[in-house]
Amino acid sequence: MPPFTDKHILLGVTGSIAAFKAADLASKLAQAGARVDVILTTGAEKFVTPLTFQSVTGRRAYTESDLWGGEAHVLHVGLAHTADALVIAPCTANTLAKLAHGLADNLLTITALANRAPLVLAPAMDGGMFDAPATQANLATLIERGATVIGPAQGHLASGLTGKGRMVEPAEILGQLRLVLGRGGALAGQSVVVSAGGTQEPLDPVRVLTNRSSGKQGFALAQAALDAGAQVTLIATPTSLTPPVGAKVIHVETAREVLEAVLKESANADALIMAAAVADFRPKQAAASKMKKRDGIPQVALEATEDVLEAVARQKSRTKRPKVVVGFAAESRDLLSNASEKLKSKKLDMIAANDISADDAGFGVDTNRITLLFANGKQESLPLMSKIEVAETIVARIAALET
Ligand code: CTP
Repeated sequence: MPPFTDKHILLGVTGSIAAFKAADLASKLAQAGARVDVILTTGAEKFVTPLTFQSVTGRRAYTESDLWGGEAHVLHVGLAHTADALVIAPCTANTLAKLAHGLADNLLTITALANRAPLVLAPAMDGGMFDAPATQANLATLIERGATVIGPAQGHLASGLTGKGRMVEPAEILGQLRLVLGRGGALAGQSVVVSAGGTQEPLDPVRVLTNRSSGKQGFALAQAALDAGAQVTLIATPTSLTPPVGAKVIHVETAREVLEAVLKESANADALIMAAAVADFRPKQAAASKMKKRDGIPQVALEATEDVLEAVARQKSRTKRPKVVVGFAAESRDLLSNASEKLKSKKLDMIAANDISADDAGFGVDTNRITLLFANGKQESLPLMSKIEVAETIVARIAALET
């Protein structure tokens, strides 16, 4: 299930110019399926209005005046007790101090004191204020109590100064919040390595031999494993995709680099998912300087690359790691027999057979139609799904194999 579906997120907004970015955060959370209740402090209301948040969340936004309204006696407790997380973004130095010392003098800080859900803070303040010993001590106290503090980032500050004090971008907060919500998920405490994208084998300093893999399925798998609470290492070939927040990313280009990175990173891992489209052949020798037209059509001799999964199987026979190995089979004909053959020859626990001849599945598109084949002979045909849904399903099956 997507991480924000059915989740109740409390978003506290305090008095900083970054409050305008909180509207984007609230919007992103609501679009991701969360029920978002916003509490604005009096300071926040100087920068943004409740209507801004009501418009993007479709729900009433609370202000200081609600503290003394008809529902006052239940409001702070009610809001806090159903929350899956309390996010305060932006969080001023003043609110940080109140939280660290248990002060409860406005609707937000009263709610924070009653809250038992994970607390996520995105500080925003002027550079000098952030560096102040009092602020640093308050942050240390809150981190010690289990709060997740994101940022602040370095950059231009409202005062005109450049320094550490900018609120981090909403996409980063959203990613960190996913990690917080994923704690205790089906892969909590497990380490998962994912390879993604198509390799590039150099022909000369400007040309490469590559394939049509976009990396989308692999990146979605990394995100799904993070959402399930795993520690994730993403071994990624060059792509324009943004890696999920929280993944350790290792950039690679060639099949040889994929091989080295996968063997090293999976040596102690619980699971490996080889979603990368690894070249089977590479130019025997890459030209040291650019091949010139005037020199005529080059004759390029190719040689075989090493099969990464076969090398992993040899490693696994010695070390029993990674415990679960998952491959992909990109096929344009005889899908199931070819996939079944790869499952056996590469000694996999599971293979995702992918018919790349269809327009709506495989390389480049956002959807996939996959059949999962398991080492015990079981098969599961999945309907046409988004690559995100495919990733969630594969991660759920890995979790089931591990238990
Ligand atoms: N793979 C690998 N090392 C390679 C090539 C592929 O580990 N040198 C992995 C892929 O990451 C994938 C699986 O093997 O998980 C199957 O890849 P695929 O390209 O479908 O198959 P190949 O092994 O290349 O076989 P064929 O060319 O016969 O389809």
